[in-house]
Amino acid sequence: MTDHVAYLEAKRGVDDRSLSRRALRRAFEPLPDEPRILEVGAGTATMVERLHEWDVLDAGEWIAVDSHAGAIRRGRERLLARADARPLDGAGANGASRSSSDGRSDRGVALGDLEVELVRADAFAHAERAEPASLLVGCAFFDVVDLGRLSAFEPLADRVYAPITYDGTTRFEPADPEDDRVLGTYREHMARCRPGSPDGGEALRAALSAVETAARSPWVIEPPYRAGERVVVEHVLGAIESAVGELGVDASAWAGRRRRQLAADELRYRAENVDVVGRL
Ligand SMILES: C[S@@+](CC[C@H](N)C(=O)[O-])C[C@H]1O[C@@H](n2cnc3c(N)ncnc32)[C@H](O)[C@@H]1O
Repeated sequence: MTDHVAYLEAKRGVDDRSLSRRALRRAFEPLPDEPRILEVGAGTATMVERLHEWDVLDAGEWIAVDSHAGAIRRGRERLLARADARPLDGAGANGASRSSSDGRSDRGVALGDLEVELVRADAFAHAERAEPASLLVGCAFFDVVDLGRLSAFEPLADRVYAPITYDGTTRFEPADPEDDRVLGTYREHMARCRPGSPDGGEALRAALSAVETAARSPWVIEPPYRAGERVVVEHVLGAIESAVGELGVDASAWAGRRRRQLAADELRYRAENVDVVGRL
């Protein structure tokens, strides 16, 4: 299967296209000029980079937390490679790293007046020691975690922005005789074998005390594929094949046909997502 970091980097363009601009405005317009934002499951920090590039955010503090060390490392490298970036921890100047009051070793990057702190940690453990924030962000995150633990974030932020939250349906075209069996088992795997839910968007809306906006943000990948899109679809195919394998279903023939269609520019993929803005 595709490497997690390569997949996260490749999906940036797909997310750019899919994100609901309406939900984005609703999430960020009410914020103060220099907000403090906590992002959980931040991956390679593409969200903060995007918002900086799109002029949504030009000052304040962004704390990007992910449990995957490689993703956090790559996020920092990519942000630092930007012409408008400078290291905040002295790593560029003298190699020293700043240690924050709670003992983490923080390796920050400034994008103009926006200070980004990249933290490798479990988001729920981090919540126990984090400072309050103006907004909690989780992109493609709240569908992969146990929403029963959402209350961990309640002391930290009143509002949450949860874009690209998977909303239950994955489709490929052209139709394949094994689609129902494979995709049905994949759904069963999401429900039974991992913390999140195949109905993540609906479950998140139900778990919030109020929903301000819920806007559709489907991923649509079809030929001619743009840069990185084959990597995203290959990753999804690998994830499905391996997940259903855990439930005893051999999807190798199905995946093989889908890979050949992908190579021949014939495969279309659509996943339903929702961008949720709401109150914890
Ligand atoms: C689907 S990826 C999305 C990453 C990023 N938000 C993006 O959209 O590119 C989900 C991320 O959540 C992280 N993750 C999952 N559970 C976590 C947890 N309990 N604490 C911190 N990160 C977690 C994973 O390591 C992964 O990078």
